[in-house]
Amino acid sequence: MAEIVKKPVQITETILRDAHQSLIATRMRTDEMLPIVPKLDEVGYRSVECWGGATFDAALRFLKEDPWDRLRKFRDGFKKTKLQMLFRGQNILGYRPYADDVVEYFVQKSVANGIDIIRIFDCLNDLRNLETAVKAANKEKAEAQVALSYTLGEAYTLEYWVEKAKAIEEMGADSICIKDMAGLLVPKAATELIGAMKEVTKLPIQLHTHYTSGEASMTYMKAVEAGVDVIDCAISPFALGTSQPATEVMVEAFRGTEYDTGYDLNLLNEIAEYFRPIREKYIANGLMNPKNMGVDIKTLLYQVPGGMLSNLTSQLDGLGAADKFYEVLAEVPNVRKDMGEPPLVTPSSQIVGSQAVMNVVMGERYKVVTKESKDLFLGKYGKSTLPFNEEIQKKCIGDEEPITCRPADLIPNELETLEKEMAEYKQQDEDVLTYALFPQVAIDFFKYRNGEGEGPEVIEAPAKAAPAPAEAQKTAFEGTKYYAINVNGVEYNVTVEAAAEGAAPVAAPAAVPAPAAPAPAAAPAGGAGSVEVTASLPGKVFKVEAAAGQAVKAGDAIVILEAMKMEVPVVAPQDGTIASINVGVGDAVEAGTLLATMN
Ligand code: CO
Repeated sequence: MAEIVKKPVQITETILRDAHQSLIATRMRTDEMLPIVPKLDEVGYRSVECWGGATFDAALRFLKEDPWDRLRKFRDGFKKTKLQMLFRGQNILGYRPYADDVVEYFVQKSVANGIDIIRIFDCLNDLRNLETAVKAANKEKAEAQVALSYTLGEAYTLEYWVEKAKAIEEMGADSICIKDMAGLLVPKAATELIGAMKEVTKLPIQLHTHYTSGEASMTYMKAVEAGVDVIDCAISPFALGTSQPATEVMVEAFRGTEYDTGYDLNLLNEIAEYFRPIREKYIANGLMNPKNMGVDIKTLLYQVPGGMLSNLTSQLDGLGAADKFYEVLAEVPNVRKDMGEPPLVTPSSQIVGSQAVMNVVMGERYKVVTKESKDLFLGKYGKSTLPFNEEIQKKCIGDEEPITCRPADLIPNELETLEKEMAEYKQQDEDVLTYALFPQVAIDFFKYRNGEGEGPEVIEAPAKAAPAPAEAQKTAFEGTKYYAINVNGVEYNVTVEAAAEGAAPVAAPAAVPAPAAPAPAAAPAGGAGSVEVTASLPGKVFKVEAAAGQAVKAGDAIVILEAMKMEVPVVAPQDGTIASINVGVGDAVEAGTLLATMN
């Protein structure tokens, strides 16, 4: 046993990023943050997490703020505190993998605008997906912190985490974070995990968790006793529930011990006083739901993030299949197993969750396969922890050859193309990165900046739901939902709560649940367009892949529907020729809507 060195623990304050991402859908505005920066700067925090994650998207999409400008204002205000951001590996802050040149440029610009510490994670813990960002951070002399997405399962033994810790040190990271987005790390496991990792690495270890399951402050206590170096906390008005443990509470818990932070409780209280009315404002306008502030034990029961549970609920709701909730919940671990038991964090949580919904609602497993599920089986997200279920993989990818290389090796540099596409809107170098991450949202923002287009969202008090892609956001703001579930003849009232990181990105494409099927069709012989291709479930047309007159083979995609934030191909039921396409991009379709006809 390595001797545990007892020393003051350090704290990363999450109020400017994760705390409001977790509790008020990332809607805190820059002008609500800046007045308190001087006091935050006096505390002596290890760092303040203030950027990245969903803040970039939400600032642009809902607040019509330039995230780069926010970062520069933080840098001006924080004279001595390190600024930290969250970075989704090769996906940066977006929802697809980017070429290395975009990743490198984003890191460079983040550091140039004020970031000191970059916390980089991957949803599969495939370290190859972090290499480019880590090297870029090294090059820019920022601290490269590699975060492991914590999860439970057959594969996730102490040995798994220990091997990852060694590999992270070897790849040149400066520190390690255990990122427990679902609040699954219980105190005893923290003792074992931190102890085992401290045996094999000299890198500082930071622990990030959420209060969702109610365990977090006890877990921190045990982790600190086991030698963890830094814990993530949120100032009390934005702590607990789906956010982090409260800063003041942890500071006082260690007061007078070897782990004493030395932080000034009066100063922390002044900071809390500042945020209290802001909390009240968001409770009043409905963005903060007090029901999310309680303990959600279901996350421990089902070992999935709370936010994933609420996503499943809203997806089933949209399909009129709320009664299938428990069936879907039982299918989640099966799908996860088929997919090599990935951690459940954006985007793997959505891929597993929506595929489980499809499998149950369609009455046949993998009858409908989302594009994202297929890509995952193709290796496009990286290497799975355990091998895929080969039979299912084959069913999903057909004759396509899965890749085994680092996925980004297949993505050609794209910065130049992106520059050209957005040239007319460019006012600063960083704009191309904004555009790269969220093309449509960025253009809308650039137009607003030029004095045209829509301004920031207005939240009416009391808000019933967030505006914008209201459907997608629905449950996040409606909070607890109630279902009467019949299990073995006994009726239970089940509540499913909303929110939490690790589930939905704050604002992916609008997404009322809506898988559609490779629609078999009534196919009497002869006649123009005698074979009807229909949607078997509601959704929105995302792409039309075929045109009238085009020859298609059975299984070719004709229309791609967007459903549950996933792309769901509707395929030709047989070989033939397209006679008509009956829908256009953006059309909402119901189950049974005629999408195309063919012969
Ligand atoms: Co978090």
